[in-house]
Amino acid sequence: MLDTSFIMEIVQVFTYLFVFALGAILLGIFIFFVIDKFQTKHAIRHNYPVIGRFRYWFEEMGIFFRQYFFAMDREELPFNRAVRSWIYRAAKNIDNTTAFGSTRDLRQPGTILFANCPYPTLGVDAAEVTAVTIGQNCENPYITTSLFNISGMSYGAISKPAVLALSNGARMAGCWMNTGEGGLSDYHLQGGADIVFQIGTAKFGVRDEHGSLSVDKLKSIAQHSQIKMFEIKLSQGAKPGKGGILPGIKVTQEIANIRGIKVGHDSISPNRHVEVTDEDTLLDMINFVRDSTGKPTGIKAVIGAYGWIDSLCKTIKKRGIDSAPDFITIDSADGGSGAAPMSLIDYMGLPLRESLPLVVNILHKHKHKLNDRIKIIASGKMVTPADVAWALCTGADFITSARGFMFSLGCIQALQCNKNTCPTGITTHNKKLQSGLDATLKAVRVKNYINNMVTEVGVIAHSCGVHEPRQLQRFHARMVVDNGNSLPLDEIYNFNKS
Ligand SMILES: Cc1cc2nc3c(=O)[nH]c(=O)nc-3n(C[C@H](O)[C@H](O)[C@H](O)COP(=O)(O)O)c2cc1C
Repeated sequence: MLDTSFIMEIVQVFTYLFVFALGAILLGIFIFFVIDKFQTKHAIRHNYPVIGRFRYWFEEMGIFFRQYFFAMDREELPFNRAVRSWIYRAAKNIDNTTAFGSTRDLRQPGTILFANCPYPTLGVDAAEVTAVTIGQNCENPYITTSLFNISGMSYGAISKPAVLALSNGARMAGCWMNTGEGGLSDYHLQGGADIVFQIGTAKFGVRDEHGSLSVDKLKSIAQHSQIKMFEIKLSQGAKPGKGGILPGIKVTQEIANIRGIKVGHDSISPNRHVEVTDEDTLLDMINFVRDSTGKPTGIKAVIGAYGWIDSLCKTIKKRGIDSAPDFITIDSADGGSGAAPMSLIDYMGLPLRESLPLVVNILHKHKHKLNDRIKIIASGKMVTPADVAWALCTGADFITSARGFMFSLGCIQALQCNKNTCPTGITTHNKKLQSGLDATLKAVRVKNYINNMVTEVGVIAHSCGVHEPRQLQRFHARMVVDNGNSLPLDEIYNFNKS
């Protein structure tokens, strides 16, 4: 028999708890009401005490609700769901076919289409991607077949497991990884991939006590056989004219040691290399790095006022073709960043769509094989096979991506790279958040993403009737100009690339 007095006691306890909880809630609401009413900092909270607070919460949660429930597949920026899904599936190496029909509006001006050939290339006739030599006149030229590579993201902007996963994945797929401007860490080397060492404007990892380039440090970095090239960063797409920014919250002891800066303090690089003021001093720096290291040396820049490219070509011709940079990485105005001011991220520089054909045309215009001597690396939202194929048609020799690889690591576009709160552990040094990022598993995803990318660029190339992606020409791609009609790229950009 159940003791009724025991049941009554339990009911009584629950009643007390309920009354207590209700009282606490009402007291809390009253306290918040008083706080809100008597503060004058936030008008909404003053005019609508307590309820006004929900606005901030909804604003924060709205990002997630929109992404999961309301945004259409092709709507979001910087990367829509259709694009992200392709990358996630490629990285997981699962079926990447779609059904029923395209959800892409093929009549929008600017849309890229490829011109299929009536006689596509058969599988048996498909060829391997040809190797390209960068820095043919260098002591140690770099020869690689890799089309699609990992763009600069410093250790600091991204985490240790992210660097490890990228460097291992790059080695497995045979592509290169750029260090970004934060210097070389052990994690870059541990993966065993080919590495491009980036020299940012603060010269982290290769500066002397006065902040100038140190020959000894350059030489010691070049000693690593994995370091294949040096890239002098003039600017990056998200913030042309502004140096790198690493918020103090992300400057750990280890990162401070690698960069030679103070723990917990914002790391702000100068807006340009102090010694580079014109084309001549730029070539001086390129040649200094190349002579000191014996390895191919190039530059990374966003194109804005493009007259300097023309002027650079003239200066190269005056000084001799050997003085030329071995490559130019052209970054798009809509490139990504760990942290950048909105006025630059949204407004500064030319998008790759405009700058890539422009630079390729200028190099072609200046004969003396400048277009052959200087390799072009295209970067900026080149994350799907169609993007990469367009860049190859337009005249790029190589393509690099940063955010494409972040997605392959599991990035959910939470837009928190500058806050040390990245929920996927990619751009945070918070160990708890990093614990979800398994570097071994994600390295395989990086490898899959690269392999599937190259395979599917091949699919486009074969459909256009060529044997391999490097044979793609401008006339193989078309752009919708108006009324849904398209023109071939060689007509839009004036001439074919070769
Ligand atoms: C988290 C993060 C960190 C970056 N750090 C660097 C850097 O150190 N140096 C650099 O030149 N570019 C840096 N970038 C820019 C990328 O290298 C790349 O040029 C740009 O994001 C465009 O490529 P994407 O559209 O594939 O991301 C960074 C980008 C991201 C997202």
